[in-house]
Amino acid sequence: MYIHWDKKLELGNDLIDTQHRMLILLCRKLDIAIKSNVDKKGILRVMLEVKKFAEFHFISEENLMHEIAYPEVSQHALIHTELLKRLESMLVKIHSQQEFPEDLLYVLNHWISDHVVNEDLKIVNYVKNSEQRPLGEHLYAQYLLSDNN
Ligand SMILES: [Fe+2]
Ligand SMILES: [Fe+2]
Repeated sequence: MYIHWDKKLELGNDLIDTQHRMLILLCRKLDIAIKSNVDKKGILRVMLEVKKFAEFHFISEENLMHEIAYPEVSQHALIHTELLKRLESMLVKIHSQQEFPEDLLYVLNHWISDHVVNEDLKIVNYVKNSEQRPLGEHLYAQYLLSDNN
């Protein structure tokens, strides 16, 4: 079963939620590309798009953790790094047809659904109670789409 955006993935921080929606949208896009017989080059382009966005999202989330002095930044960042390494090695194998785009999508779907509700939720809860506020937080309401505004 492939990941879809779902209310249970919404953690209550507009920046993180917006980026997670985008990441899931890109996984859906990859799923559609695979199922609609897009050629190999096209699928590789979408896989790169997903990987680059994941990389961006991880940097953004790690910056946020630093800004609020989250106590477990390095442990959380290590989990991000391990996924990126795994994606990188899968991309190499997909190029040489030892693995397939469906395998990458499978890994991403499972990783995201597990990581968001278990690890990212801890950051969002910490943000809620932290005296130190994320840089630019006051801009979220103006720039990000939210169910709350
Ligand atoms: Fe994370
Ligand atoms: Fe995340």
